Amino acid sequence: MTRPPGSRTRLIASATARGRGRRTVNPPLERGSTLLSDRAEDMRDDNLGPVYGLEGLAPQRALAAALADLEGAHRTVLAPSGLAAVALPLLALLRPGDEVLATDALYGPSRRFLTRFMAARGVTSRFHDPGLKAAAIAGLFGPETRLVLVESPASLTFEMVDVPELAALARARGVLSAIDNTWAAGLAFRPLDHGADVSVQAVTKYVAGHSDVLMGAVSVRDPALARTLDHAVEDLGWHVSPDDAWLALRGLRTLPIRMAAHAASALVVAAWLAGRPEVSEVRYPPLPGSPGHALWRRDYSGAAGLMGVVTQGWSEARAHAFLNRLNLFGLGYSWGGFESLITHETGQMALRQSPPALPGTLLRLHVGLEDPADLIADLDQAFSATADV
Ligand SMILES: Cc1ncc(COP(=O)(O)O)c(C=O)c1O
Repeated sequence: MTRPPGSRTRLIASATARGRGRRTVNPPLERGSTLLSDRAEDMRDDNLGPVYGLEGLAPQRALAAALADLEGAHRTVLAPSGLAAVALPLLALLRPGDEVLATDALYGPSRRFLTRFMAARGVTSRFHDPGLKAAAIAGLFGPETRLVLVESPASLTFEMVDVPELAALARARGVLSAIDNTWAAGLAFRPLDHGADVSVQAVTKYVAGHSDVLMGAVSVRDPALARTLDHAVEDLGWHVSPDDAWLALRGLRTLPIRMAAHAASALVVAAWLAGRPEVSEVRYPPLPGSPGHALWRRDYSGAAGLMGVVTQGWSEARAHAFLNRLNLFGLGYSWGGFESLITHETGQMALRQSPPALPGTLLRLHVGLEDPADLIADLDQAFSATADV
């Protein structure tokens, strides 16, 4: 029996597959609203491909197919941003009177979508402590709970959830489970294989990978859920530009090697930071001793370069001085691109019902593809230069 190709191979083989005539390796960058038919009889023939640009042209279709393969999905639906991808299943699958149980560590704008937009339309939300075990989270399900929404690892504080256990408990109670899987990029962890109903990711981050595209993806295995999501996108008229899809597809081909490099460097930087007197805690699941390490080891085949670093004390002035002193870490809110970034707590902790008591400032580092020794030297000089602030 021949061995089935791995995901790294499949990401590339979908571009080089034979039997489609002479052509460019990547799909043509088609742009178009109008699509012309040869004959009147052809105009409504679905077998001849899309009839209108809103349905997606070659780049969007190739990207959605490759992402579905990556996530092990029956369907991947593209959305105009990662936030839109979080919003889509909530819009499509919930009705007034339903309740969402979400992690208190949810990405701030996702939380705002629940508490502002969905709440105004009769869908309520409750937020659970991100440190709870899966059984305790399921213990909070009420009669109206229709969907449980988690991030694993969680935004900023990086707690991990036992997704297989939570998904199984949710399914047994008729509750849908959705996971924001952006940290794993659909590669290091495949939630649908572990029983989750919906896997969402901000393609903006690692898939696009170059800090120049905003996009999201929603992946599902159940054909009925796929139909509901398709209908929602159709009804809302959402669209992703072919240029952006083309760029994301180009990023996707090198996702596995970029992720491996981010993860290898991040582990070196995380271990170095954990030994610094200025640091009280490094929150990076691949680092032994970090919250969620056991679950990461059990379920993940790789990692991102994003971590939380809690300093030992520190005034805001010290944190600002430290960030200002760094040369190789850009001051920016996103992550998943090739470059290293750092933020100082983004204001999202103030939204939480039960923020963790941290002994110092929370920094978020994205370790990029630079030489890790240079990143460490940069952090080192910034620690030293700001010791007296
Ligand atoms: C965990 C997580 N989910 C979703 C998003 C939203 O992605 P986008 O910026 O493409 O809307 C982000 C963005 O930072 C994120 O960190």
